[in-house]
Amino acid sequence: MAAPDPEIIHEIELQRPRLPVGVLSKQERDVLVERALVGLYRWYLSRSQATRNWSPDRSFDWRALRTDHSIEVNKLIEGFFAVEQYVPDYTSKQLLVMRKSQGRSSFLIRWGSEEEKHAATWLNALLFLRHRPRKWIEEYKWMLREIEFNLPWDDPLHLLFYAILQERATQLNYLGTALIARGESDKPELKNDRDPILEQAATTIARDEVAHYSFFLEIARVYLYYHPTQALEALMDVIKTFAMPALNIIPNGAEFYDLVHRTGVYGVRAYARDVIQVLFDQLGVKGRKAVEEAVKRSRQVPDGNGDLHDTAVFNALDYHAVEASVRRLFGRIQAYEQEIGLAEVDPTQFVASGYAAG
Ligand SMILES: [Fe+2]
Ligand SMILES: [Fe+2]
Repeated sequence: MAAPDPEIIHEIELQRPRLPVGVLSKQERDVLVERALVGLYRWYLSRSQATRNWSPDRSFDWRALRTDHSIEVNKLIEGFFAVEQYVPDYTSKQLLVMRKSQGRSSFLIRWGSEEEKHAATWLNALLFLRHRPRKWIEEYKWMLREIEFNLPWDDPLHLLFYAILQERATQLNYLGTALIARGESDKPELKNDRDPILEQAATTIARDEVAHYSFFLEIARVYLYYHPTQALEALMDVIKTFAMPALNIIPNGAEFYDLVHRTGVYGVRAYARDVIQVLFDQLGVKGRKAVEEAVKRSRQVPDGNGDLHDTAVFNALDYHAVEASVRRLFGRIQAYEQEIGLAEVDPTQFVASGYAAG
């Protein structure tokens, strides 16, 4: 008898169900996701108040902002101002989708209050730049708010991955602006835009965006750990269609898009390398191709409770790394609960999904 084709052996190996007994039920996993969300939110709130309690009015010496910036810098700030005008839509519409989750909705309300500070900061910047008359700024604001932003997705999981990409991309935009304001841009037209106040504003906002990104990243790991197939599918759906929020509704969105590329603030290369690749590394995802392949091959295997699970996704994930980061997160939550005393009345406990043993 001829030896079996190695490719067929490989194929069979890929499709071999590897679900151990003892995998948690969907309900148990949902409870653990929520537990992590609430715990991380408590930690986040405490840290946010202790380390990022800045004021859009008082934290910057606005009178010292330069008023002779390049047209590019003026337009960039108008664009940032425009995008941050939709905080009421971003927050209220997502809140309706997530109201049942205490952790997710509490964070969203907090997140909205921090994003609102960004809008207020860019308004101050616009006023003190003195590039546009006060009346123009006022009319521009009303015009922007006349249009409503609609959510790009209507379920919490897709919105989570959208938020991760958006926070990271926004952070890069603001860091790119801070670089211009340090006088370090390699574009000749931006050589004379050094401005310590603008740099401070952009860096302060970018620090918030990092904190938002980190929150969403931790929660994405929790989903990948307890709901790997759904999480990977949502991640891929979002990556394929991602665009910065509100670019399609602000009146000069296409021009603003060109501007951020032209000024080197953000671009396609940054999206592929500094957003997607960084995210894959941080999530333990092996790459776009591996995920697409795994999703295509995914097949459902029943566990001892009769719940169905997909197994092929484990080929696209460094699941042990995911588990290690989720254990670390629960450890951080537990340390916080010890500090506060919550550990005595309502301690959070890590429970293994049961998948890793495979
Ligand atoms: Fe923001
Ligand atoms: Fe943000």
